[in-house]
Amino acid sequence: MVTEFKKGLANDGEVIAMLPSYVINRPTGSEVGVYLALDLGGTNFRVCRVNLEGYGNMRLTSAKYTISDELKTGPGEKLFEFLADCVAAFCKDYGLDPTGDSIPMGFTFSFPCKQIAIDKGMLILIKAIVNDTVGTLIAHAYSDPQTYISVILGTGTNAAYVEKVANIRKWGSGSGEVIINTEWGAYKEASILPITHWDNALDRKTTNPKQQIFEKMISGMYLGEIVRLILIDLIKSGELFNGVGSQLLEEPYHFDTAYMSRIERDHSLGLSDTKQVLEDVMGVVNSSIDDRRIVKHVCELVGTRAARLAAAGVAALVTKINRLDACTVAIDGSLFEHYPHFGNRMRDALRELLGITAQNILLEQARDGSGQGAALIAALV
Ligand code: BGC
Repeated sequence: MVTEFKKGLANDGEVIAMLPSYVINRPTGSEVGVYLALDLGGTNFRVCRVNLEGYGNMRLTSAKYTISDELKTGPGEKLFEFLADCVAAFCKDYGLDPTGDSIPMGFTFSFPCKQIAIDKGMLILIKAIVNDTVGTLIAHAYSDPQTYISVILGTGTNAAYVEKVANIRKWGSGSGEVIINTEWGAYKEASILPITHWDNALDRKTTNPKQQIFEKMISGMYLGEIVRLILIDLIKSGELFNGVGSQLLEEPYHFDTAYMSRIERDHSLGLSDTKQVLEDVMGVVNSSIDDRRIVKHVCELVGTRAARLAAAGVAALVTKINRLDACTVAIDGSLFEHYPHFGNRMRDALRELLGITAQNILLEQARDGSGQGAALIAALV
């Protein structure tokens, strides 16, 4: 991975894109003031008022506005007019007076943009994306200056980190540092990744085959589907449910990753909650205790592999930036937050990879990088 990171820093168009974010400062924790942050995602638009209080403390108030389908598919001007109306309404409701002193504003725009400066980006195409990692890093660094890396482990996965400009060969020369959005989910080195035929089967049926392979082995969007494919094979070979499947089990993506969490959390003697999930979600009645143990074990294997691969990515980044002595990794996303043992499995893998120095690497839960991070970036600019 380190080799691929370096390639991405040297040239455009490499597998791991290593996109410079143009965020060249990290917060010190002493920034103060009132800022607005806008967060435009797939379905909602969020406006936040962020009060930076110094000493690494901040307060955030926010309101959500729904983007109608008409706005989503209509002309850009209409969308941006709507966004402006929301900001105006928010200011009124929350007692901000933008006609007085101007209020600096940051904008988390969760669509793929080729950034050309800190306040300029060109929209490339609409799909899920880019700089939530950068927001997460900045937001966490406000209260913990040792934060050099951030990771998203949710529906998708990605990481950002602090790089020396001098190391970004595709930029020519330069000094100082900049946050790089790695887009590590694109990593796909088949000679290194433990890719199984279930991974390949899943990949073939996606809209972006042969891409985002690392992400497809790690993130919440796919883990349940990998488990489903394995279970189907176990049924076919007669090792599960007496060889009898169900119609629901045949439906792609019907087994959501959240059910893996539930099953992994089931420590009851008869695995009763697992039985419930199998019945309610998969339409499998009459599972035996052995069946349920097998299903739980498959979830453990797929979930553990995901955590260990994510940890391998973290180990690669820490090594790349030479921060084995002290580094906080800010991690956001539903997998890290809600999937049982995910963090500890990552910590175990880090210890195996880095030995005793792994204790210097802190994996910490981060939240709301899009809101807090955008406001902070506005403050830094
Ligand atoms: C996207 C990244 C994003 C990550 C986490 C991935 O699918 O490619 O840009 O940071 O999901 O949300």
